[in-house]
Amino acid sequence: MRFMREDDERLIAVGDELARLLVEQGLTADGSVLDVGSGYGRLALGILHSLDFQGPYLGFDILPRHVAWCAQTITPAFPTMRFAHLDIRNERYNPAGMLDPATVGFPAPSARTGFCALFSVFTHLHRPVVERYLHEIHRVLEPGGTAVTTWFLFDAARLPTITSSAATYPMVHVLDEVSRYADADDPLQAIAYDEAAVRGWAVAARLEVVSIDHGTWAGEPGRTFQDLVILRRAVGDVEVEPMPPGPSLAMRARAAARHGRTRLGDAWRRLRRGVGRRVRAVTGRRAG
Ligand SMILES: C[S@@+](CC[C@H](N)C(=O)[O-])C[C@H]1O[C@@H](n2cnc3c(N)ncnc32)[C@H](O)[C@@H]1O
Repeated sequence: MRFMREDDERLIAVGDELARLLVEQGLTADGSVLDVGSGYGRLALGILHSLDFQGPYLGFDILPRHVAWCAQTITPAFPTMRFAHLDIRNERYNPAGMLDPATVGFPAPSARTGFCALFSVFTHLHRPVVERYLHEIHRVLEPGGTAVTTWFLFDAARLPTITSSAATYPMVHVLDEVSRYADADDPLQAIAYDEAAVRGWAVAARLEVVSIDHGTWAGEPGRTFQDLVILRRAVGDVEVEPMPPGPSLAMRARAAARHGRTRLGDAWRRLRRGVGRRVRAVTGRRAG
């Protein structure tokens, strides 16, 4: 389940490092965090370990096993740390997902989150999803709230380095004028965006770009591996946008059944069997 065959020691060290990036931006033990693409809880463990975090934390991810592990292992011991599974499509991680990532809403209320984290998530998303997620970051952040995000970025000056073998992921394939990727067969293994385009999308989503610090992934010196982009919702930006409708109950139940879990999934399977029997009784044929 772990990324890059990480052992326990490394898991805690990475968690602490991710937590530090939020603490540097002002996260305190009673803050609030939305962790988008929470994986197997590295940031959650990091803020618990290094900050004795007490505030509300919600992590969501598209991988049911990872979310289930976090919900079964972390939440019982720390009830303010919650985890949600959303069956969002991603051609690398969840190709059969039922929710369209370019229209999905984050499972969080508007203007109530102090810190959003997207660690190694924008590096696996296509452009329409990137733009959608920036919009959702703005919606959920409270005025003055901060997003700590990581990316692979390029500009004309950086092109020779990011396409060279010195880069961990040489971005040699061109998707369009603002997107490049490393693996010909798997563009979402690692996708890079034009830095000026990212700035433009952030501003279009009404987020301020506080800082961009290049990481070491392209063989240059840096404090982080991926490029670190800090975004902020302006203090005076107080309008509360309505929360987009979540996935329908039927869609959630179908996803739960597909992953063979939960009472909701069982209820959906019973419902389908019942409907199937009724369709057969009326038509003599099996329901599709
Ligand atoms: C490299 S992992 C990073 C996980 C975690 N942020 C960490 O640093 O440990 C990328 C994560 O993004 C998740 N992901 C991919 N597409 C997503 C999407 N559209 N929405 C939310 N999470 C997504 C994957 O399931 C995976 O857990």
